Amino acid sequence: MNDIAKQIDSRLKSLNLTGMIPIYNELSVKAAQSNLQYEEYLLLLLEEEEKRKTDSSVKAKIGKAKFPFVKTIEEFDFGFQPNFKEKEIIRLSALEFIDKKENVIFLGPPGVGKTHLAIGLGIKACIQKYRVFFISAAKLLEDLFISSKNQTLVNKLLMYSRFNLLIIDELGYMPISKEQANLLFQLISQRYEKGSIILTSNYNFDEWTKVFDDNIVASAIIDRLVHHSNIFYINGSSYRIKDKIKKLD
Ligand SMILES: Nc1ncnc2c1ncn2[C@@H]1O[C@H](COP(=O)(O)OP(=O)(O)O)[C@@H](O)[C@H]1O
Ligand SMILES: [Mg+2]
Repeated sequence: MNDIAKQIDSRLKSLNLTGMIPIYNELSVKAAQSNLQYEEYLLLLLEEEEKRKTDSSVKAKIGKAKFPFVKTIEEFDFGFQPNFKEKEIIRLSALEFIDKKENVIFLGPPGVGKTHLAIGLGIKACIQKYRVFFISAAKLLEDLFISSKNQTLVNKLLMYSRFNLLIIDELGYMPISKEQANLLFQLISQRYEKGSIILTSNYNFDEWTKVFDDNIVASAIIDRLVHHSNIFYINGSSYRIKDKIKKLD
């Protein structure tokens, strides 16, 4: 490596422009061959650096969102759920619902892809630089409960209200006590018309009385969630057992 190349490398490193290091030399040869202007060469280099920075900031956002697995909307087989409105999901993928602070609710039995779709939309939101957080309903309720016991609830609610999109997964797997329901109500009220929620549940709203000890709080939660929301009932068969069903044919 000649002296100039060494200096360029060390300056690019100190300016945190490391995306340019592996390519500036190769690009300069190509630029000379195709008679690029200096500005055109500079633009190419900057584009490369921008791409690297965007990729790493999206990766960081996806990491911070704490998804349990990474699945995209593009990987979702809409053909497997024939009654499902693919167009509606594609419309939601444009993420206008986040700007409008609307909610999305996926209801249906286990294995139909509720969590997959929630994560898929969450990943799209990360790519668009929204702050996203994924948490199971059980963990969220536990977290709020602990905070309420050690006088940190106000801060905890603030923390959850800072996300542009909060994904609450699997509401209904565990019964919800009156105290927990009140905490959930506070969270939902705090985010109401301020930030979006994607919620998944294996119970339809009319079955929520089975989940909640307190029907009045349950209806108050449903009321706020459902106002300005996009609700999907997925009632096809489980994708998890599809291969097993095929084998039985
Ligand atoms: N229509 C589908 N196309 C592709 N994969 C699917 C589909 N439905 C479910 N899956 C996959 O099946 C598994 C279970 O889906 P999941 O979203 O966890 O279901 P649910 O949350 O409704 O219980 C996941 O690995 C998911 O990616
Ligand atoms: Mg799920």
